[in-house]
Amino acid sequence: MLVRKLKQSVGKLMNSTIEYPDFTKKIPFPIRHLEFRFDGQNFYNNFYRNAELASAYVTAMSIFLTYGEELVIETARYHRDFVNDPILKQRVTALIGQEAIHSKVHNAFNDQTLANHQYPVRFYRFLAENVFKYGFHRFPQPLKLSLMAGIEHFTAVFAEFAMKHDAEIWAKEIDDKTKGLWMWHFMEESEHKDVAYDVFQLISGNYALRITGFFLASFTIMGLVFAGAVGIPILRRPLNTISPRYWKDVAYSLNVLWNPQNGVFGSTIGHVMEYLRPDFHPNDHDTTVYLQDYKQKLLNPESGLLIPYFTKEFMPKIQAA
Ligand SMILES: [Fe+2]
Ligand SMILES: [Fe+2]
Repeated sequence: MLVRKLKQSVGKLMNSTIEYPDFTKKIPFPIRHLEFRFDGQNFYNNFYRNAELASAYVTAMSIFLTYGEELVIETARYHRDFVNDPILKQRVTALIGQEAIHSKVHNAFNDQTLANHQYPVRFYRFLAENVFKYGFHRFPQPLKLSLMAGIEHFTAVFAEFAMKHDAEIWAKEIDDKTKGLWMWHFMEESEHKDVAYDVFQLISGNYALRITGFFLASFTIMGLVFAGAVGIPILRRPLNTISPRYWKDVAYSLNVLWNPQNGVFGSTIGHVMEYLRPDFHPNDHDTTVYLQDYKQKLLNPESGLLIPYFTKEFMPKIQAA
């Protein structure tokens, strides 16, 4: 059984016939503008499952991902010119818009909330700037595109996880702005999860290149961002190194991240590795129901969490190729 499946996969890989999706069946998504006016008040440090190190991973992500988003924007802009399908082209424009606003809003959160709570925002920006300037931004465009698709796979996995486990991942002390920021970001990552992959398959479709981007994205998200997370509690509070309370948190946080039932890494590793399948597609995971639930929680005009911060939304036009 396993051998037959493997043979089928290798056969598909060798023939490498790529089936393009029917873009007319895809659900369009808008570019939403938000103004949170972060002030750092009521910010709760251990907002992710009351775990200091695990929450530090989420905040390290907030600092580093703005650089990933800039890379995604630059790469998407470059490759949009090679996309002939008008609907996919429109989706690329919407992806660029969403990522640009993510980056802008996270930078505001980093400056107005994290920096005011002794997070090493400037130092981490210095590190990230150098990694991206002398590393990722020097990659040739095809590799950048595969890295972009790999990054978007991880954000899609995390978004699906967050939407599925919404009731249990946020500490009850979390403030509305921090919670709204992350829920909005997860919702939009899930809305546009297939765009980078579709562009990569359309323009390149090379399996080895796709997997190279996946490993680079894995190294960045699981390795570099995690290393950043480890530094945060120590840089914020050097006494943590000798605090038994903190080391208890480290054990708790590692469990929160890695346990196979509901850990963000531990329970999603199978989903992450699905990317290695030659016939993988992001839409193999149907997240429509979770997205509807999140839209209701965030955008319901009466009770939506984002309503106080939502300013406008814009749907890019579909233009004939
Ligand atoms: Fe994003
Ligand atoms: Fe994204």
